[in-house]
Amino acid sequence: MLPEGLPFLLCLGAVSGFLPNRESRGITPSDITDADITEIGVLRAVASYMEKNPLPGKPPMAPGELENMMPLNATGLFKAYFQADVSPSRLVKAIEEIVMGNNQVEQHHAEDSSYFFYCEEITKSIAKLRNLRASVLSGLKGSVNSSALESARLNTGKALHVLQKFYSNTNWVEMGNSKPYKHLLNPASRAFPTAPASKDTCRDCSKPSGSRWYICDDNMLVNDMLTSGYKLSGSCPTKPKGKCGHGGRTDPTQNFSPKGGINKETSQPQLSPHFHLHKEAAELAIQATRDFFVADGFGLLDQLGKEIFRTFFSLEGYSLTFAIDTTGSMSDDIAQVKTTAINLLHKYSGSPDAPHNYILVPFNDPDVGPVQKTNDVDQLKSYISSLEATGGGDCPEMSLTGLKLALQESLPRSKIFSFTDAGAKDAALKDEIKVLIDSSGSEVSYALTGYCASRKRRSVPEPATARRSFANLYEELAAYSGGYYAMTTKSQLSQILGIMELSLNAAPVKVAHSRLDGTRFSFPVDETLTEISVSVKSLSSSGFSMMVQQPSGAPSAAVRTVINTDSHKVVKVSPIGVQGSWSVVVSPGGSYEVEIGGKSLLDFSYQIMQEQNEYTLPIQGRPVKGSDYTVSIKLMGESGGITVQRLVTLSELGVPIDSISLNQSSDALGNPLATALMALRAPATLLMVEGLSPRGFPFSRVNTDPISTESVQIVSLPNQNITTSPGKSLEVSVVVVNDGATASFSFDVKDDMSFLRSFTPTGAVLDPGQNVTLTATFVPAVDSSTFASSIATFTAKSSLAQNYLKLPIVVIPEVALETDETPPTHHLLDFYMPCIGRFQQQPTCSRHTWSMRFFAMDAQSTITLRAKPNPSGLSCSPQGTETDNNLMCQYSSDCCSPFVEVVISDENGNSNTIALDYRRSRPPAAA
Ligand SMILES: *[C@@H]1O[C@H](CO)[C@@H](O)[C@H](O)[C@H]1NC(C)=O
Ligand SMILES: *[C@@H]1O[C@H](CO)[C@@H](O)[C@H](O)[C@H]1NC(C)=O
Ligand SMILES: *[C@@H]1O[C@H](CO)[C@@H](O)[C@H](O)[C@H]1NC(C)=O
Ligand SMILES: *[C@@H]1O[C@H](CO)[C@@H](O)[C@H](O)[C@H]1NC(C)=O
Ligand SMILES: *[C@@H]1O[C@H](CO)[C@@H](O)[C@H](O)[C@H]1NC(C)=O
Repeated sequence: MLPEGLPFLLCLGAVSGFLPNRESRGITPSDITDADITEIGVLRAVASYMEKNPLPGKPPMAPGELENMMPLNATGLFKAYFQADVSPSRLVKAIEEIVMGNNQVEQHHAEDSSYFFYCEEITKSIAKLRNLRASVLSGLKGSVNSSALESARLNTGKALHVLQKFYSNTNWVEMGNSKPYKHLLNPASRAFPTAPASKDTCRDCSKPSGSRWYICDDNMLVNDMLTSGYKLSGSCPTKPKGKCGHGGRTDPTQNFSPKGGINKETSQPQLSPHFHLHKEAAELAIQATRDFFVADGFGLLDQLGKEIFRTFFSLEGYSLTFAIDTTGSMSDDIAQVKTTAINLLHKYSGSPDAPHNYILVPFNDPDVGPVQKTNDVDQLKSYISSLEATGGGDCPEMSLTGLKLALQESLPRSKIFSFTDAGAKDAALKDEIKVLIDSSGSEVSYALTGYCASRKRRSVPEPATARRSFANLYEELAAYSGGYYAMTTKSQLSQILGIMELSLNAAPVKVAHSRLDGTRFSFPVDETLTEISVSVKSLSSSGFSMMVQQPSGAPSAAVRTVINTDSHKVVKVSPIGVQGSWSVVVSPGGSYEVEIGGKSLLDFSYQIMQEQNEYTLPIQGRPVKGSDYTVSIKLMGESGGITVQRLVTLSELGVPIDSISLNQSSDALGNPLATALMALRAPATLLMVEGLSPRGFPFSRVNTDPISTESVQIVSLPNQNITTSPGKSLEVSVVVVNDGATASFSFDVKDDMSFLRSFTPTGAVLDPGQNVTLTATFVPAVDSSTFASSIATFTAKSSLAQNYLKLPIVVIPEVALETDETPPTHHLLDFYMPCIGRFQQQPTCSRHTWSMRFFAMDAQSTITLRAKPNPSGLSCSPQGTETDNNLMCQYSSDCCSPFVEVVISDENGNSNTIALDYRRSRPPAAA
């Protein structure tokens, strides 16, 4: 027994509302996680948007036609909407970023109750939710670039975390509500009163002998006021008497009265006393998540408009972007690009494979731009026609500056083609470009007609690592992004321009990426592939010939040549006709690099995860070489019945490193899912998944973004405040850990909106295993009423390694931080209580009346009152000329009910009660 609540216990157990995701330990198949709730809610929101906005020329859809699809998954939704094979990978990536923000709360804010609705911090949690949402909305106004999007998605995930916890951690579900609580997002909708501090909300749960958990079917003492479970943390040090606990094995206060608790975060009784309401709570959280985006009037869609909504979820498809060198020697090339590319683009325009827009980024020396964007092929043609190839006497050009602009201006997961005949003068941008490639997921391809480098500067030799060697920086960037690299002569440029055709594909996949030593390479072709491309590069740079064979050994008749140079050949096969084991046969035998691409809706996405705060959460930045990670694989497909069997790790050149057999499970939507433990030992690793297609053919898919490992990592400090106000300085610290040999590191910090004032130190020499804390100071120089968010990127770099960490800094105006948590007050004026003794008994009681008059007031907002058991006995009228902040009220009732509870609540739900009970015939007394 503890008289005054419990002391704050250090060493807390796991914290959470719903559990974060399926990759974490201790999840059972019937648990619905934060990741599940977020994903289903987003898919329903997007489905609802699509139903109301059919594609031009497509028939209108009935309400629910897409939203009620069973099962609901991104691939099925896209197929039904576009009525074509369009990969949903862009939407999947957007969802992953939102889920990442959601899950990061467990890592960054576990000690802040207001992210969880714990401890009756209802008003504070609502303010947190609305402020996060306001920062998302403000970040999406105006021109939205890729980093503004990333920031908005991470903060959306955080806001959704708060929103979803409402349903697992308060008694909303226990009160029998079957709809989400609108007031959370819509201030115009009425607030529900919150139980005041004086109100007991829970009684002890029972624990029958032999039971390993409390039975909490009937522990609620309130069913007409909001309350939530107490869970101890830095911001909530005690569980007061009479107040509900969070409950479950991870809540050390569950054994102190009131014993047990009320959380509904899992379906497991040992973790969640109200496990029997888990499904209801999760369903409401899903509906609320959907409403966050598409609720009439206050959802993100109505607040920001359709265009931003489509951008936010990457529903717009991809950009086809041309970054073109316009120095003097390029005029011929430009003419060829114009004719060949435009003809090709015309052929595809109007098809579902066509890009959403075309972007032209000219670069010269020293000028870059202007960027021109259009949805129209003819317009693109006239942009290209008006390029003038001039200047640029010395050789290397500002090509990476051009590429950087192209990456920033393109939609996520776009196709970028760069044409040049010169090396890069601005090679120092390489690392920044790689980070942009990481976050955009775009593919960069190079078509070179020469490579001259500066005579003055010699290129700095790359450190001797185990990485593959590249002909030049461009080949490295193409490989890093999963794009193509082709080098030819000016007279043969047209022979490589076909490369662009491979990009005009709305559902691109890679089937295999391998080194071929000898004469034959075989690969599986499953029934979901509608076309394939076979790319073979000679590693000995001598001429060769190749042939694509069907499973029978007969050459395929549907082969078309796309690239044909001495050392690099690419063909496209369409239609495919027969499934099974196809081969490519080369002559003469030797060493080649083979890549098989195709078009299919069967694909996978992955996330690299690590144990953090007892959960398995996505890592930030790049993984550390040699460390153990959980890789989470999610299969996508338009039909069920996919079996995943193996995860194969490949080197950059496609040499198998390891093969891990996978155990398939599924998420709450029924999507196939598999996780595996793996150590990343190579500097760069490609992931390949193998299994059986719905019709039982072996399939393989390779993810084209290599996983680069580093020997340095940057970790954020947990429970760090990354929210500040306009003009107020904020310090953010990260820890740089050297996992490699002794090296000298230089540090850098940047943020999108230039809030950074300083950081320290700027560099350090770190021994193996040693770390240093890097602290940056930000001062948001914005108007005092502005909400904002800016992604801060911390980088650490040595000659051998570099890594980065991104943190979204949230700016909330000070006025928005002032939450009104003061409940209304009351003052009794007079009281008449004749109901004593036999006056309380039938039938006498109905002939006698008792009454009271009181003032009720609130300093900040209007108040509402309600009375039990006789609501109509209460009447109130405003005092003075004020609004309803200050009321004079009267309550009367007959003596059959000599008791009352009046709840007085303000606009934010802060409440106070007047409770009188004369049923035991005590002498009358004013309260
Ligand atoms: C995705 O949804 C579609 C349509 O509901 C369904 O046919 C398909 O089986 C689902 N895909 C997977 C991989 O479960
Ligand atoms: C897969 O399941 C088998 C049998 O249940 C188990 O032994 C193995 O450890 C599991 N593998 C993984 C990667 O979880
Ligand atoms: C974080 O900082 C802001 C602004 O300085 C402050 O208002 C807020 O209370 C802080 N939050 C926590 C949890 O310390
Ligand atoms: C995004 O836009 C902001 C301001 O609009 C700008 O400061 C920032 O540099 C841009 N970032 C990128 C990656 O384009
Ligand atoms: C940094 O080094 C200190 C002292 O060696 C150690 O206690 C701490 O755990 C390290 N921090 C990280 C994040 O590795």
